[in-house]
Amino acid sequence: MSIYLDHSATTKPSAGVIEEVRRTMELCYGNPSSLHAMGLDAARILSEARSTIARSIGALPDEIIFTSGGTEADNQAIFGIWEASKRQGRTVITSAVEHPAVLRACERLEAQGARVIYLPVNRQGLIEPEAFQNALNSDTILVSLMHSNNETGARMPIEAIGRILSEQNSAAVFHTDAVQSYGKIDLDMRRLPVDIASLSAHKIHGPKGVGALYVRGGTKLSPLLAGGGQERGFRSGTENVPGIAGFAQAVREQSDHPEERRRHLADVKSYLRERLLEEISDVSIHTPEESIPSVLNAGFPGCRGEVLLRMLEQEGIYVSTGSACSSKKANSHVLAAMDLEPASAQGALRFSFAEENSREQMDRVVEVLKTAVDSQRKLRESFGKGRRR
Ligand SMILES: Cc1ncc(COP(=O)(O)O)c(C=O)c1O
Repeated sequence: MSIYLDHSATTKPSAGVIEEVRRTMELCYGNPSSLHAMGLDAARILSEARSTIARSIGALPDEIIFTSGGTEADNQAIFGIWEASKRQGRTVITSAVEHPAVLRACERLEAQGARVIYLPVNRQGLIEPEAFQNALNSDTILVSLMHSNNETGARMPIEAIGRILSEQNSAAVFHTDAVQSYGKIDLDMRRLPVDIASLSAHKIHGPKGVGALYVRGGTKLSPLLAGGGQERGFRSGTENVPGIAGFAQAVREQSDHPEERRRHLADVKSYLRERLLEEISDVSIHTPEESIPSVLNAGFPGCRGEVLLRMLEQEGIYVSTGSACSSKKANSHVLAAMDLEPASAQGALRFSFAEENSREQMDRVVEVLKTAVDSQRKLRESFGKGRRR
């Protein structure tokens, strides 16, 4: 039996989601913009899904725009706010540890004349509100800071950032990439001090290629795509009705006993953390206390994360060295920004959990990992001795 611990990269669609997508494709294939009964059926599915997703974050249905996933939601937020506000100012504040969907978009803004400030993080991987306060000025039109980090699980101080924005009477639009937090901790837009937030379905057992952007009523945003004006003009293109129906099904399933579900994730994570520290020498934990319950990042100095990943894979255990999008590159920009010991960053693994993971699975992971770490360290030692001879 394999042990899948890469849920931050993507999750397995639930049986209910697969059935909902299949049923919608087969029975409700009308275009939601068509005026006849089949179109109305599809439009009704969209409208119900919009209400379900809105309700899950304390938003209004009209505040939800469907997108092709988290990447598009991030791009739409960043370029859309820039287009709508660039005459009021040119400063954008983000952080050094954002997902590439935000970082690459901000780099494009720089090419268009934006002044982008990339806030550093401390050794815990957290943004410091004081650094934000120092960076904020009257020229700031956009703040894009992730709700939680995909590589370490660190929960950013979004409430504190919101307080600073309101104390300073800032007109900046506040975007948060909430892709990793959604479903793992409460996101209530009636309390969260953000104007716009990105969500993705495939991180919560929904289908890939579908997501949403929450846009608080009254937020100035320009659309990216020119076309038929779907999604109230914000996102042209015939909606992915089966994907959206599957997304809503995933959200309904997540809202069943959420506290119990999250307690289970937190228990599996803390159990793995304790067992790693007990069983393997010189392990460093890169995930701070303030984190989502689904991610644990740990470093094994003297090893290479990619080699450990392959050794675990041979035993049917699937983990990651960083985010799925950056894992093909040698080093993680997130761990680099945390200024960790290079050996600890090079030997880093990310374990990310879902409901189906258990303490028994973690025992097996630790057993395999202990052997893998020992053998890599021994190999390195003997290689070092050989070179010294
Ligand atoms: C924090 C974060 N933002 C954005 C994305 C991109 O989402 P999607 O894969 O739906 O485009 C991811 C996915 O890895 C993510 O972890």
